Amino acid sequence: MTNEQHTAPVEEKPARKKIILSGIQPTGIFTLGNYIGAVRNWGQLQEDYDCYYFVADLHSLTIRQNPADLRKQTLEAFALLLAAGIDPEKSLVFIQSHVHNHAELGWILMCNSMFGELSRMTQFKDKSAKHADNVNAGLFTYPSLMAADILLYQADLVPVGQDQTQHLEFTRNVATRFNGLYGDVFRLPEAYLPKEGAKIMSLQDPARKMSKSDPNPKARISILDDEASILRKFRSAVTDSEAHVCYREDKPGISNLMTIYSVVTGKSYEAIEDEFDGRGYGDFKTAVGEAVAEELRPIRENFARLMADKKYLEDVYKMGAERAQSISNRTLTKVRKKVGLLAKPF
Ligand code: TYM
Repeated sequence: MTNEQHTAPVEEKPARKKIILSGIQPTGIFTLGNYIGAVRNWGQLQEDYDCYYFVADLHSLTIRQNPADLRKQTLEAFALLLAAGIDPEKSLVFIQSHVHNHAELGWILMCNSMFGELSRMTQFKDKSAKHADNVNAGLFTYPSLMAADILLYQADLVPVGQDQTQHLEFTRNVATRFNGLYGDVFRLPEAYLPKEGAKIMSLQDPARKMSKSDPNPKARISILDDEASILRKFRSAVTDSEAHVCYREDKPGISNLMTIYSVVTGKSYEAIEDEFDGRGYGDFKTAVGEAVAEELRPIRENFARLMADKKYLEDVYKMGAERAQSISNRTLTKVRKKVGLLAKPF
């Protein structure tokens, strides 16, 4: 025997992949804003993270919905996620209401959310002004349910557009309060905003964000619009009268188009300024329209194919719900114990 030390080779524990989670409401076909601000990035994150994505149908109930339309739009939203590049082999994709843990943790977190902090949410103020005849309790406590969506899965990062950052801040506050009372239960998530395009503006009023619910269809590009309407909408986009393509705060219309063009082509603002130097807005708007139409074409085609195969969609969301339920059970069981609910007998 030698006096050499023989030690078993140390097996390196693979580093934990960070968890990414995000959701989208099924209140109409996604806009180019939803796509650039969120969904486009979701697909790109699948390689490097453990990704969980869902259709937030419970959130849509805060606004009065036609039940048949909601059902149809939920399936369409699910198909759109897959069509836009979310691969169910790589990511967990599901429908929020199929996993009852969201509603259950949502209630527990509501009991840990303060009236004052909920009252400060700008989305609540905006939506309650817009739907003054239906300022329901769900609209008010919406951020608590969103916090539950995120905290159930111990997400590290939440890829969203700028309009959701206040809800993320709220989620962190609720999680910190809960952890302070009951010990470390929730991981504190962070918002993950795209470098460009966290707020895509309306094509008709560049002071407002592009929104699914904008009554003027010319203000938004739906990701299923055909090429002709995409080109038409970009050609009629509201800009300024300077006829000089450059990115400047006092040129919100042109700057918005530059952001869109930059994201879909990968070109920098300087390269775009050079490309259109001395050319009018007409050429630029056509180029943006063509680039966007090209980017969205495969999504439209994938969507048509997926919607023709309902059985496949059902299989994918069923599998997603089962996995999501089992993953989220871990956190919910811990939470139930911490707050003093008697263990379930089944
Ligand atoms: P929703 O359905 O309003 O929007 C989905 C995503 O799209 C982003 N977005 C935009 N990004 C850039 N420019 C725009 N004009 C634009 N409009 C929308 C939103 O920021 C969002 O990321 N409350 C959420 C859904 C939700 C959720 C969650 C998200 C429920 N639970 C948990 C993350 C984590 C919502 O209503 O998104």
